[in-house]
Amino acid sequence: MVSRQKLRLGIVGGGPGSFIGPVHLAAARLDGEFELVCGAFSRDAERSREAGRALGLSPERCYADYRDMLNRESGRSAEGLQCLVVATPNDTHFEISAAALRRGLHVMCDKPATRTLSEAQELAKIIAAERQVYALTYTYSGYPMVREAREVCASGQLGRIRRVQVEYLQGWLTRPIEKDGNKQAGWRTDPARAGSGCLGDIGVHAFHLLEFIAGHRVDRLRADLSTIVAGRAVDDDFAALLRLDNGAPGVIAASQIAAGEGNGLRIRVHGEQGSLDWSHAAADELTLRWLDRPTEILSSGVGGVGLSAASRAISRLPAAHPEGYIEAMANLYREFAAAVRGEPAAATLPTVADGVRGLQFIAAVERSARKSENWVPVAD
Ligand SMILES: NC(=O)c1ccc[n+]([C@@H]2O[C@H](COP(=O)([O-])OP(=O)(O)OC[C@H]3O[C@@H](n4cnc5c(N)ncnc54)[C@H](O)[C@@H]3O)[C@@H](O)[C@H]2O)c1
Repeated sequence: MVSRQKLRLGIVGGGPGSFIGPVHLAAARLDGEFELVCGAFSRDAERSREAGRALGLSPERCYADYRDMLNRESGRSAEGLQCLVVATPNDTHFEISAAALRRGLHVMCDKPATRTLSEAQELAKIIAAERQVYALTYTYSGYPMVREAREVCASGQLGRIRRVQVEYLQGWLTRPIEKDGNKQAGWRTDPARAGSGCLGDIGVHAFHLLEFIAGHRVDRLRADLSTIVAGRAVDDDFAALLRLDNGAPGVIAASQIAAGEGNGLRIRVHGEQGSLDWSHAAADELTLRWLDRPTEILSSGVGGVGLSAASRAISRLPAAHPEGYIEAMANLYREFAAAVRGEPAAATLPTVADGVRGLQFIAAVERSARKSENWVPVAD
């Protein structure tokens, strides 16, 4: 049990110009649960100090090597590190998370949990042995209306789930920008650093969202995986037909070459009585369509009309005051903090089991896509 002081947080990644590290730090600060005490923001010492300086850290607590940080910070006992954020490219997630857990630290890692399935399975064993809290930022599961959608499915209002459809369309990799020095595209299209392409970058988000909301596991799938941009070394588009554990069919599709698309994540779940529709473009709304009554559009917010306790509990502002990506991640950080303090972990906080699941999904799509016998000509 950790006392009610701020939890001392460090980060690996999040250097100047990076995407998700600063989002983690903003999210971790939102509820006053964490205090940033150190960081290995970049493998470049000056860039690491630059990032730390901007966050008010003293230079001696900014590191270029996370191992050095773990060694030196663990010597500080009373003011040393308790929790570590892992916000680096995928190939480093396993080694950094494992090293931190073995030092007795709690870990908040970004997805995918690891680069390979075997690493994720090994990580699960380490977590079982070390008994530290390990959570994953499947950020979209922290949105109030995603929690509402999960409640709608669990309540049985839709009746038996008969069909699911999830799509995640981005267009930022339509051109081979990795060849023009775009760093984020560079590591994401390098199999040695990313593992897979679109699959691991956004496909796992779509997959997690589907199982999280529908409350059913995907039992099996048939997939098609493409690399549309010539010369790219990883997939940049995929689609798969699914069967859920209740026999219902589903479709999942994601792309990073869908020109003109931004961050188009959308899920629909159809039951016997009606359906739900949530889209990241209107994240504070959930549309419910019914067979025999008018369509409802639920809006998130404190005191939101007709909402479940689950979504009201994580809303921060009155209805019609939009919350977004940082707040969604902050909701995961709030649950992470509670678990670190020894409170029962929220069932909604993504764990290493969700991480293994994501890597299982990637492996299944890749395995299915290698088999070609499902393709038949439309006309002989
Ligand atoms: N949850 C989400 O919605 C979400 C969104 C974006 C990215 N991600 C994930 O977050 C991770 C990082 O993605 P990004 O877009 O922020 O990448 P990025 O390239 O923008 O940033 C990576 C940062 O890590 C630093 N870094 C790399 N190796 C390091 C090391 N060994 N030690 C210290 N620093 C190191 C780099 O200098 C850089 O500052 C990836 O695993 C990605 O899949 C998740």
